[in-house]
Amino acid sequence: MDDKYGRVTGWGFYVPEKVVTNFDLEKSLDTSNEWIVRRSGIHERHIAAPDETTATLAVKASQAALDKAGLAGCDLDLIIVATSSPDYLTPPVSSQVQYSLCAESVPAFVLETGCTGFIYSLTTAYQFIAAGTYENILVIGVEIISRHVNWEDRSTAVLFGDAAGAVVIQATDQPCGLKGFVLGSDGSQAHQIIIPAGGTAEPVDEDSLAAGRHFIHMNGREVFKFATRVIGKASRQALSRAGLTLDDVDWIIPHQANLRIIEAAARAMKVPKERFVINIEKYGNTSAASIPVALSEYLDDGRIQPEDTLLLVSFGAGLTWAAAVLQMAPNGEGPAPSI
Ligand code: ACO
Repeated sequence: MDDKYGRVTGWGFYVPEKVVTNFDLEKSLDTSNEWIVRRSGIHERHIAAPDETTATLAVKASQAALDKAGLAGCDLDLIIVATSSPDYLTPPVSSQVQYSLCAESVPAFVLETGCTGFIYSLTTAYQFIAAGTYENILVIGVEIISRHVNWEDRSTAVLFGDAAGAVVIQATDQPCGLKGFVLGSDGSQAHQIIIPAGGTAEPVDEDSLAAGRHFIHMNGREVFKFATRVIGKASRQALSRAGLTLDDVDWIIPHQANLRIIEAAARAMKVPKERFVINIEKYGNTSAASIPVALSEYLDDGRIQPEDTLLLVSFGAGLTWAAAVLQMAPNGEGPAPSI
């Protein structure tokens, strides 16, 4: 069998209309715009309207990605949805997305690894491409984290936002696609980012509700230290598996959790900050959506070119980490033209 590769032929993102600024948060929380900007780099975030769900956000981003690729939902062979804020514990939100995209009978599943979910999903998609199993795959990162945040807890409420991003990967015989990757997890640190109640370990009851255990709890300082350690290490491993160096990469797209984490990673990797994709100031931490949103936004405005080689790197709940080197199109080619 000939070698199969996958190129990125479509991308898109969607953020809810409602913008909540740091100044808005000052009115209800013991915080300030100055503290939030200095400690995180975030100025504002988008928050889903009551009638929006994780599925509706995902469908909007997906439709944009499909349009760009010149595909319809029924052309897809597989849909992977990375999220840790699905509409329901069951059924899987991936089936709602599949139905809404008119992707009749197309297999669809959810992959849940917190903020690393998009890279985990992308690398999974590439295994199906390389094996020759599927040719047209939609990979989505989507979150409505705002519904899991305690809006009275200043240590988490200021950090998160809602968004969706999606890419279409299509099989090709021309070398390109996933060049190297690393995935990892350390469950001994599970407690560092956790929603304690609402799963089988601790079903929600009156006591857990009163204690706010159905909201996100995060040890920010520990996650910060973990993130600054793991970004450089995972990046080096993915590049080494790709047989490439940082000089071969056009852009680094880190998970957008905190500007200071990105700046620390840039210093540690000895790479100018200007080579990092950064949009955290507008969207906050959108978890599994942050990388596909950043990728799509920079592709849309031309800062990233469709044939660029990218280093994607993320960390998050689990704790998990992931990095991938992605050459989006065969050498010298952009994406397939939209029909
Ligand atoms: N406004 C004002 N003061 C605040 C706020 C706020 N919003 N939040 C916390 N503080 C206070 C604290 O109470 C503390 O006060 P104290 O010194 O009197 O105790 C002080 O500010 C410093 O708190 P720290 O937690 O040490 O602040 P830090 O500089 O570490 O910044 C932050 C906190 C922004 C959370 C940072 O630790 C961080 O970004 N961590 C990483 C989080 C992350 O990356 N998560 C990603 C994964 S999320 C996922 O997977 C879904």
